[in-house]
Amino acid sequence: MKTKNWAQFGKLYHADSLEVMTEMRDATVDLVVTSPPYALHFKKEYGNAGQKEYVKWFLLFAREFKRILKPKGSFVLNIGGTWTPGAPVRSLYHFRLLIELCDEVGFNLAQEFFWYNPAKMPAPAEWVNVRRIRVKDSVEYIYWLSASEFPKADNSRVLQAYSRDMERLIKRGLAGTKRPSGHIIKQTFSENKGGSIPGNLIQCGNNEGNSEYIRVSKQTGKKIHPARFPAELPRFFIMFLTEPGDIVFDPFAGSNTTGAVAEELRRRWIGIEKSEEYARDSELRFHVKGNILDENGCSAPSQAELTFL
Ligand SMILES: C[S@@+](CC[C@H](N)C(=O)[O-])C[C@H]1O[C@@H](n2cnc3c(N)ncnc32)[C@H](O)[C@@H]1O
Repeated sequence: MKTKNWAQFGKLYHADSLEVMTEMRDATVDLVVTSPPYALHFKKEYGNAGQKEYVKWFLLFAREFKRILKPKGSFVLNIGGTWTPGAPVRSLYHFRLLIELCDEVGFNLAQEFFWYNPAKMPAPAEWVNVRRIRVKDSVEYIYWLSASEFPKADNSRVLQAYSRDMERLIKRGLAGTKRPSGHIIKQTFSENKGGSIPGNLIQCGNNEGNSEYIRVSKQTGKKIHPARFPAELPRFFIMFLTEPGDIVFDPFAGSNTTGAVAEELRRRWIGIEKSEEYARDSELRFHVKGNILDENGCSAPSQAELTFL
C-alpha cells in the first residue's frame, strides 16, 4: 500500500476492528478511546446490535482491548443510554455491560464520567414532547476502565481555569479553617497550583456547526458522519491518560475525531472504521491541515504495518 502526505503519527484503516485486533500484539496500546454503535432501538445507518445481544457482541471486542492494552493502559468507553421499546422506562443494557466488563473481562472501573450535552434533542418525542412525562436525556456515560488498579494518569495535564472566586481567594490568601461538614481546609488550599482540578462531568455540545470538519465536508460534498463525538471528549482523556509518543487506538473510528486529536497532541494513533465511505471521507480531517491521502484511499492494514504496534 502506498500512502503519501498521510498524517505524521498514525493511520486510519478501513477494516473490521475485531478481525484486525487478532493480529495485534499483547500489551502494546496505551489508551483505547471510543464510541461504539449504541444499542438504540431505532437502527442507525451503520448498523447496531440490539439491547438483547449487545453485551455479548461488545465483549468480543472488549476481550481484545484488554489483551492489547499495556498493564497501565486505559479503556475509555463513551456509551449512551436508551429506552425500552414501547414504554417510558430506561434500558439497563449499559449498566449490564459495565458489570460484565469488570466481572467477566477483568477491567477495573477507574472512574465514571458523564458527558452533559446541552444541545441534545428531546427524545423519544412520544414521552418528552407529546405526553410530557419524561425530561430530556442530556447526559451520556463515559466509563474510564483500566487494565490494572493503578493506570497511568495525571490530572495536572487537564487543569481548568480557576473561577473568579478562586482567583480572588488566591490573591487574598486563606486562614486554615474547618467546614461544618468536618472537612479541614488548609492554608495551602489558596495556593496557585496552575488551575483547578476538573470534575467528572464534561460539558460540551455536539453541534459544531462551524467546525472545519463540517465546513470542508459541505464544501467538498462529502457526507457528514451522523454520530460523531465532540473533539473535547478524546482530547480530555488523551491528555489525562497518555503522554506524547504513546499509542491511542479507536476501534470504531467513524469520522476519525480521535485520530485527528491524537495527531494534534503528538500521540501515535491507529483508527479502524468498517464503513468504506466513512473511512475514506475522514481523510478531510487531515486535508484541512494540509495532509492528503493518495488515490488508494484507506485500506486494511498489512501485517507489516501492525507490527508498528
Ligand atoms: C458512533 S460511531 C463513531 C463516531 C466517531 N467517534 C466520530 O467521532 O466520528 C461508530 C462507528 O463504528 C463503526 N463500526 C461498527 N462496527 C465496526 C467494526 N466491527 N469495526 C470497525 N468499525 C465499526 C460504524 O461504522 C460507525 O462509524
